[in-house]
Order: sequence, then structure tokens, then C-alpha cells
Amino acid sequence: TQPLRLGIAGLGTVGTGVVKIVRQKANLLAARTGRPIEITAVSARNRDKDRGVSLKGYAWEDDPVKLAMRDDVDVFVELMGGADGPAKAATEAALAAGKDVVTANKAMLAIHGQELAESAEELGRVIRFEAAVAGGIPVVKALTEGLAGNEITRVMGVMNGTCNYILTRMEDSGLPYDQIFDEAHQLGYLEADPNLDVGGIDAGHKLSLLASIAYGTQVDFGNVELEGIQKISIQDIRTAAAMGFRIKLLGVAQMTGRGLEQRMSPCLVPADSPLGQLQGGTNMVVLEGDSVGQIVLRGAGAGEGPTASAVMSDVIEIARGTRLTTFGQPAAGLEKARPARAAAP
Ligand code: NAP
Ligand code: HSE
Repeated sequence: TQPLRLGIAGLGTVGTGVVKIVRQKANLLAARTGRPIEITAVSARNRDKDRGVSLKGYAWEDDPVKLAMRDDVDVFVELMGGADGPAKAATEAALAAGKDVVTANKAMLAIHGQELAESAEELGRVIRFEAAVAGGIPVVKALTEGLAGNEITRVMGVMNGTCNYILTRMEDSGLPYDQIFDEAHQLGYLEADPNLDVGGIDAGHKLSLLASIAYGTQVDFGNVELEGIQKISIQDIRTAAAMGFRIKLLGVAQMTGRGLEQRMSPCLVPADSPLGQLQGGTNMVVLEGDSVGQIVLRGAGAGEGPTASAVMSDVIEIARGTRLTTFGQPAAGLEKARPARAAAP
């Protein structure tokens, strides 16, 4: 049997996690897909960095675009991050060179997802992105596969672990936002640009991807109503608690009579509800379908193991020969979302 050959660009938290799984679980992966999964080439900025994992046997490319176009790569695995720059250039190069793509890059997909999906479709390739939303929680597959027989009536969730950590630490400690923000920073939880987390942007990216899948619309991050957690005070948290609520950075996407409503903002949720009980850096996604009712998915939204687990689930589907298109239906068929707010009188 022909092996499935991976080229991995980005050997940080997620990339090294993927290398570990491929190295340590070769037999399990082959048994589950019927063919070996191998890494043939890798790329990162600094070739000399010790990454705590062996890269022996892999070709090295300084330039991720060159990696993406190598003849010995079947699947380009993009784990560098960034909406534009090398991530987008290498993804486009991979598609043009006839490779499938797996990425964890929600920023790139929220901005360029439609264009990339259409290009993949024209070229007969797939882009898969389970890891881009809620880390280890298989929510993309839940929507595209498990709930494919439903009309989705609502998608809700806590999709940024850092914000949930900050809010629950404020509740537990009684310490103000600035102090807990600094603590989260020291613990390395925040993105290089912290506003992506605390401004709700990262979670908004994720919501826009889920909304697109759930409602068969083009990704419409520009119309996500965004509000971050920077202005939440201890007094807000105490007042909410006195009324039996907790404050969560909650995303909600639903199709209304006026169009698609997408909101990511601090919300009051009942303290005894599943969302209200969500602690620390965990994520929770609540999906509602007309036939299934409500289902709740909870788990690690970030970190080496959980995110690599999600990346591998996409690699495995490609190894199995699944040709599901990016958003669960042909990209060309995704309708332009009619944003609810813009349609309001
Ligand atoms: P990271 O730890 O910062 O690693 C990024 C990697 O990309 C590094 O190995 C870096 O090289 C490499 N890189 C950056 N620019 C490059 C360039 N121009 N050419 C070649 N390599 C380049 O990031 P991460 O946390 O693994 O995240 C990767 C992706 O997964 C992002 O899209 C992120 O949003 C997404 N994601 C992450 C998590 C998580 O828990 N970390 C969860 C869900 C999704 P050097 O190591 O040499 O600097
Ligand atoms: N900054 C993100 C979070 C990383 O805190 O959830 C995972 O996407």
C-alpha cells in the first residue's frame, strides 16, 4: 500500500504534537487507515532549535512554500499560524501543486476560508480544519458528519480557553482583571497579540467557521458582533453571582428571519447550567438540531495533545480516502450570509 506522506510546516506546540503522534502511533494509524502515514519533510523558522522530538529521517525546508510543493508530500499540514504571510502563501502553493491541506489556522480561514475552499474545489483538493475550532473537541466533524441530517437551529459556545481561564480565576480569587491578565500572560496562555484572545477575535474567528458549516453560508467573520472581556470587573462578576449567573465569553450563531446572527460577547449564563459550570481553560460547544435536540461537547480547546489529536483526525480521514469538501458541502454552493444586523431597519 502507498503511504500517505505528510509535509509539516510549523513545529511549535501543535506541530511537535503531530510529529509525536505520527512517530509513536505508526501501527495504530496504519491499522485504522489501511496504509502507513509518514512525515517526509518539515519546515520551521529555526532549524537548530531543540523541539524535544526527533526529526530524524525528515527532509528540512527553510521555506514552507517549497515544502508545500515537494513531490514527496501528499498532504500539506499548515501549523504556522497567521491569517496571511507564509501560511496563506504555502496553502495556496500546496493546492496548486495538487496537495490536500490540513490546517489549525482559524485566523487564515476566517479571513480567506471561502477563497481557499473554492480554489481547493476547483483543483479537486480538500482543506480540512478540525483543529481550528475548539482544539481537541471534534466539533467540525460533529456538524459535517454526525449532525448532517439536521437543520441546525443554534450554535453556541465558549471557544477561547484563555478568556474562560481569566473569567473563572477572577471569580475564584476575587482579583481584578488586570492582575489575572498578567498571571495568564506569565503562564504563557495568551496569544502573541493578546487582543486576539481578550478582544474576542480568536473566538469570533472560530464562531464564523462553525456558523458557515452549520448554515451552509460563506464564512462571514466581518459580520460577527464582537465584544471582549477587558471591561469585566469584579463587581460585574459579583452582581452576576448574586443573581445565580456566571459571566462567559459566549458565542452564539443562529439563523433569524433577518439573516445570520453571529455574536461573541460576555454573557450571563445560569451558574448551574453546563456552560455556567465550565472552569479554567476548557471549551464547550452546544449544538442544537431540529431532529437531535441539544448536544453538548466539552473538552480541551488548546494544547499540544488535544490540538494534535484534531489535526490527526483530519489526516486520518484523508488517508481513508474521505473527500468531504471543506465546509461539508461544495464551497461554490455556500450562500452569502445575510447578516441580521445589516438587515435590521
Ligand atoms: P507556535 O507554537 O507559535 O508554532 C509556530 C511554528 O511555526 C513554529 O515552529 C515556527 O518556527 C513556525 N513558523 C512561523 N513562521 C514561519 C515561517 N515563516 N516559516 C516556517 N515556519 C514558521 O504555534 P502553535 O501554538 O503550534 O499554533 C499553530 C497553529 O495552530 C496556529 O494557527 C494556531 O492558531 C493553531 N492552534 C493552536 C492551538 C494551541 O493550543 N497552540 C490550538 C488550536 C489551534 P520556529 O519554531 O522555528 O519559530
Ligand atoms: N488562544 C486560544 C485559546 C488558543 O485560548 O483558546 C486555542 O485556539
